Amino acid sequence: MSNHLIAPSILSADFARLGDEVRSVIAAGADWIHFDVMDNHYVPNLTMGPMICQALRPHAQRADGTRVPIDVHLMVHPVDALATAFAEAGADTVSFHPDATIHVDRTLQLIRDHGCKAGLVFNPARPLDVLEWVIDKVDLVLVMSVNPGFGGQSFIPSALKKVEQARKLIDAHRAETGREIRLEVDGGIKIDNIRRVAEAGADTFVAGSAIFGRPDYRAVIDAMRAELARADR
Ligand code: DX5
Ligand code: ZN
Repeated sequence: MSNHLIAPSILSADFARLGDEVRSVIAAGADWIHFDVMDNHYVPNLTMGPMICQALRPHAQRADGTRVPIDVHLMVHPVDALATAFAEAGADTVSFHPDATIHVDRTLQLIRDHGCKAGLVFNPARPLDVLEWVIDKVDLVLVMSVNPGFGGQSFIPSALKKVEQARKLIDAHRAETGREIRLEVDGGIKIDNIRRVAEAGADTFVAGSAIFGRPDYRAVIDAMRAELARADR
């Protein structure tokens, strides 16, 4: 079975019918639900808080009752209080930008202590340096391929180079410890570029406008999976 996961971002869903949208995109084949949290401070936009995550939690399951992970992407500053609130609101993964918290190691530990997987997010202009020092506490690396704040932006090609670098660090860590870390990419992912992103080493793909901007979610997800099946790694 393929190790590739597709994580539709509900940022581009119809906010007036979020529960329905979550159920529809899961029925269409979504693996995770990507949940973008913006505070109008770290990024110039304002979206959803922990109450909405909690309200959506019962909708994030498959027809057979299995849980679909909610992948919370915090674009907020400071991080710790909201990370805790989202963990308590049913998040499965909580990711944050290392430049948004003073003590990165402590924030990672806080998320894990609350029973969630912990992710680190790297903006287009940020190097991966910090990852080397905290990789033992990281469950997910999220490489931004747009500047965070809005859906529907164009993919920034330098993200491919960063994905390749992250893949090397993750593979070296796995060789040393046996531990798996997911490598996710977020921003401007479409049917026509997802394969290149996979070939650079990503295994988890966020897509907002590409999926929710089309009438047939399943057609887009199927087309993305067909492209992923052709990726050469
Ligand atoms: C951007 C968000 C993304 C966004 C992706 O700040 O983190 O998750 O929703 O949207 P698309 O796929 O439209 O670029
Ligand atoms: Zn995101």
